[in-house]
Amino acid sequence: MSLLPLTETQAEIQRLARDYAQRELVPLAGERDRASRFDRVMVEQMAALGFLGMLIPESYDGLGLDANSYLLALEEIAVADATAAVTLSVHNSLPTQMILTYGSEAQRTRWLPPLARGELLGAFALSEPEAGSDAASLRAQATRDGDDWILDGTKAWVSHGNEAGVILCMARTDTPENRRGSKGISTFILTPDLPGFAVSKKEAKMGLRASPTVQIVLDRCRVPGDRLVGEVGRGLTYALGSLDHGRLGIAAQAVGIARAALEASVRYAGERKQFGRAIGEFQAIQFKLADMATRITAARTLLHTAAAAKQRGEKVTRYCSMAKLFATETAMWVTTQAVQVFGGYGYVTDYSVERHMRDAKVTEIYEGTSEIQRIVIARETLAAAAAADGCLPD
Ligand code: CAA
Repeated sequence: MSLLPLTETQAEIQRLARDYAQRELVPLAGERDRASRFDRVMVEQMAALGFLGMLIPESYDGLGLDANSYLLALEEIAVADATAAVTLSVHNSLPTQMILTYGSEAQRTRWLPPLARGELLGAFALSEPEAGSDAASLRAQATRDGDDWILDGTKAWVSHGNEAGVILCMARTDTPENRRGSKGISTFILTPDLPGFAVSKKEAKMGLRASPTVQIVLDRCRVPGDRLVGEVGRGLTYALGSLDHGRLGIAAQAVGIARAALEASVRYAGERKQFGRAIGEFQAIQFKLADMATRITAARTLLHTAAAAKQRGEKVTRYCSMAKLFATETAMWVTTQAVQVFGGYGYVTDYSVERHMRDAKVTEIYEGTSEIQRIVIARETLAAAAAADGCLPD
């Protein structure tokens, strides 16, 4: 039974993702995490199911699914393996959406089919060592050279940037003499074969260890002119617009991580005996499970309501941020409770809940920290109130 009014297609995609994830991902998730091993086979399997092209129209070899189907699938994948979910989320929500929404027809025809088929994995390079939350302060510089652009700089926190065939990169196209702030940034389609492109540092992380996070160094990297996406100077707007999608994806990932922790806790509460009874018979544990289940359902409902509005073409930046904020803080809270339910066994690697807790943490950080989501929500709420005489019915 689902609280969400699922269409037949949505229920079918959810089932397909769940069957695949439980069969293929669950058995290897722990080992991949311990070895910090990115699994290409996993990407190939998900590509064979069409999951690398879930939001890409069929005319470009994608599945052309609606946002809700995509997010249902992401949740199922995240229940099994949060690293598989972030791979899917970044690929589907950011680079492919940017090319689909802001790219030219020639760019869509060239790049979307191989991305949809999973022949190329897509990554997103916005942040830099000195430009995280303040994305507009990025420094990577793009300079015109005939028909080409020359890019110099360092991009940071790029999820699977060392595995990607296409990286959507934001760089400055204004000049040091005439800085234009958020209007001085453009978007480029990079590929690892470009001269001057190199992957440098690979981060050693607390969680999501099977998903590599790298820096990319651009050293006089020559980029052909036809790799510029959309208009010069609109790159930050494109990136932030795409992050609306991305934040829904991360919210779905967080719901999945939280659900994995709840499911493990329910199982354990039935098995573990103390004081002569299964611990699940004690209200102390039951109340935890009740709060975990309630918060997860609330997060999923907010997420799918926001996604349905986005699917209808409404501008729902505020709700994307609310969904991300609430779902990711839910994931952190629920996984922490799960470790508590397990007691000492929650703190060691015999069970999965310590991994879920480590994996949950980054969802409150990447694609905009909780603090940034609150800034976005506050700004938009104040603007909505000002436009409607203080009336905020929803
Ligand atoms: N949709 C479309 N356009 C948007 C938008 C949205 N959601 N949000 C902002 N814009 C537009 C604005 O209208 C503005 O356009 P104009 O210049 O034409 O007016 C432009 O984008 C700049 O916006 P702001 O003026 O609001 O910019 P700001 O400097 O005040 O910053 C911010 C706003 C909310 C702090 C923003 O910088 C932000 O979200 N920061 C967090 C960045 C982030 O999420 N980084 C994560 C990177 S990805 C990652 O984590 C790694 C990975 O691999 C997954």
